[in-house]
Amino acid sequence: MSSKIRKAVFPVAGLGTRFLPATKAMPKEMLTVVDRPVIQHVVDEAREADIEHFVFVTGRNKQVIEDHFDRSYELEDTLQERGKKPELELLTSDLPGAGQTSFTRQQAPLGLGHAVWCARDIVGREPFALLLPDMLHQPKTRPCMAMMVEAYAKNPGNYVAVYEVPESQTHQYGIVGRGKDVGHGFEITAMVEKPAAGKAPSNLAISGRYILEPAIFDILQTQPRGAGGEIQLTDAMKTLAATRPFYGITFDGQIHDCGMKIGFLVANVAYALARHDLAPTFRQELRKLIDG
Ligand code: UTP
Repeated sequence: MSSKIRKAVFPVAGLGTRFLPATKAMPKEMLTVVDRPVIQHVVDEAREADIEHFVFVTGRNKQVIEDHFDRSYELEDTLQERGKKPELELLTSDLPGAGQTSFTRQQAPLGLGHAVWCARDIVGREPFALLLPDMLHQPKTRPCMAMMVEAYAKNPGNYVAVYEVPESQTHQYGIVGRGKDVGHGFEITAMVEKPAAGKAPSNLAISGRYILEPAIFDILQTQPRGAGGEIQLTDAMKTLAATRPFYGITFDGQIHDCGMKIGFLVANVAYALARHDLAPTFRQELRKLIDG
């Protein structure tokens, strides 16, 4: 099997009900964290991992995502005429190259596992990265997917990134059991989606970054619906883990769940505070607001 991860899948077909009314006519992936849409931050992470092709599994009302990753001739012409060089350069550098994006539709939101399965023909028979656009991974050192791709190149298999959550909250997450250390990661001994209180194998939650072998598509093809009547990715990963190696990589940084209001608000603050052009003034303004 190839040791290079060339393709990344971004499932963006969810309804975003937790963000209504903002997501009534606009996809939640286009909400901005500072001045970049959430989906752009996540595509940036994949590009930093040298991924070459970006596969978006979309749904109705999501056309604007496709437009965002295309050229905007009118805008570019106007910027050119007005001599706005930095803005033009920004737009150009953000853009994937011609033929580097693919879009397919999920048609019905039958769950994350089903969304991933919809990418099967575009991905083909090679290992691929999967990034959940809701989850922003703000690294302390190296970006999450770059770390995972490097670990995969040294030791092929299936990977999930994990982070520590408080014991009292494990019932809200997909939790893995930790086995012996391997390279930069560890062997996964168990995977449980939203374990009952006291039943979690650890406090390590799956963070929304994966490297998966194409056998996952064969499993998803026949997998019955699970919790919530949806085709669950974790169920398919459990089946895959019975025959193929599965590793965890602990992410060193902050994770922001932008599918939730609080996570999204904190992400905006954290990303603004990390920006040299904004942080000094923003910090002062925040202090004024908080101190009253
Ligand atoms: P979520 O459950 O967080 O997304 O799925 P959602 O359904 O949009 O959110 P709410 O609960 O209604 O607010 C995690 C990721 O999986 C994608 C979502 O777009 C999101 O990026 N997803 C989920 C799909 O692409 N298809 C699905 O059927 C379900």
